Amino acid sequence: MSGPSQEVLAKLTPVLTKRWLTPDAWKLDVYERLDGYAALRKAFKYTPDDLIAFMKESGHRGRGGAGFPVGMKWAFIPQNDGKPHYLVVNADEGEPGTCKDLPLMMNDPHSLIEGIIIACYAVRASRAFIYIRGEAVHAARRLRHAVEEAKAAGYLGDNILDSGLDLEIVVHSGAGAYICGEETALLDSLEGFRGQPRLRPPFPATHGLYASPTVINNVGSIASVPHIVLGGAEWWKSLGSENAAGTMIYSLSGRVANPGQYECRLGTTLDELLELAGGMAKGHNLKFWTPGGSSTPMLAAKHSDVPLDFDNIAKAGSILGTTAMMIYSDADCPVYCTYRWLQFYAHESCGKCTPCREGNYWMTRIYRRILSGNGTHEDLDTLLDACDNLLGRSFCGLGDGATSPVTSSLKHFKQDYIDYIEGHRRPLLDASDLVGA
Ligand code: NAI
Ligand code: SF4
Repeated sequence: MSGPSQEVLAKLTPVLTKRWLTPDAWKLDVYERLDGYAALRKAFKYTPDDLIAFMKESGHRGRGGAGFPVGMKWAFIPQNDGKPHYLVVNADEGEPGTCKDLPLMMNDPHSLIEGIIIACYAVRASRAFIYIRGEAVHAARRLRHAVEEAKAAGYLGDNILDSGLDLEIVVHSGAGAYICGEETALLDSLEGFRGQPRLRPPFPATHGLYASPTVINNVGSIASVPHIVLGGAEWWKSLGSENAAGTMIYSLSGRVANPGQYECRLGTTLDELLELAGGMAKGHNLKFWTPGGSSTPMLAAKHSDVPLDFDNIAKAGSILGTTAMMIYSDADCPVYCTYRWLQFYAHESCGKCTPCREGNYWMTRIYRRILSGNGTHEDLDTLLDACDNLLGRSFCGLGDGATSPVTSSLKHFKQDYIDYIEGHRRPLLDASDLVGA
């Protein structure tokens, strides 16, 4: 079987993934041989303020889903306020379909640690936390090992490389709740409370961990930092598209020949990524897909040529999110997928606010009715009405995100719903699933 052509392979742009195939790159000595900790030495030649200005100049935007400018977030941290500052790395990665941070931490943990040290120097933080999802025991173990190695080599501890920076990193495992990926629920969890979102504003930048100024960045956002420092702001900008600097790890799953992580320039299209992944799985034709996890509105096959960056995806009616691209074919049902995602949101809802707690529960019941052949046309209006009452009225992004699959599947695939309602399609659920509906 022949693999992708050289022309197609040239679309890969390994930056964050460039060490992944090197054996033992997760060990300090190998990492150091591959440019490791060179960026840190370079960063220490800047003043913290200059480093923040440099990050702003690079146009680097967060990789956790929201795409917030990283330099701007660092600049929000008040200086000379006499309070301790913290950096928290969000490694909770719970968004369905998302699998870019775990392989990064497994294959190249020191790039994250090096990025943390640079970020802490910039925002004058002397303690950093990596909040990693509880199920990722193997990645937590690898991170802890890397932290110990970095400490023994003098990259952590007091007066790192004579820079004046003192820094400790704590690797903290969560307990598997999706809501603890929401930044303020994460802070509550880290402080030892039940993880539930806090009111924003005030934002963590001023009132974060232990009510002190806190930067919260995603794994990919921070692991990119050493590469940007070494390569320069112009280089990083040259890798992406307008308003979207750099590369992105696109995770392809579902009906593709070779699922996995493909790092390419921001602005690559799904068509190009599918070429890299060997095309659709045999016998399958693209029907719908998510650009960035289940919380981002699904798109149809006709959108496969949209450049995958923040602005172009927004114009197509979705969000770039975590670039977790779940690919579905005409053998899959968008109504059933939406139902399964709603079950997930209903299960993971923290219960703090009524629209999300009740809305997801009731919408799940309506889906059960439709999928068992007992739905009505009015159910479709009720679903949209429920989404109206969740979107913008929920306390945090979980409630907002839950509406994405509902509204987008109704927008692009309403006929699939009607087929169940009018009996043109065999019900996927049977009467026993209707108990309580
Ligand atoms: P957001 O847009 O509300 O905030 C983004 C970041 O900017 C936050 O760190 C926030 O504190 C900061 N910020 C925004 N305005 C600010 C201001 N005026 N002052 C200071 N700081 C400010 O987005 P949010 O709710 O943090 O994240 C939503 C995204 O997360 C979604 O788009 C979704 O794709 C993604 N997500 C990712 C998951 C994962 O597994 N990586 C899981 C679930 C959702
Ligand atoms: Fe909790 Fe959902 Fe409300 Fe967020 S939207 S606070 S997860 S109930």
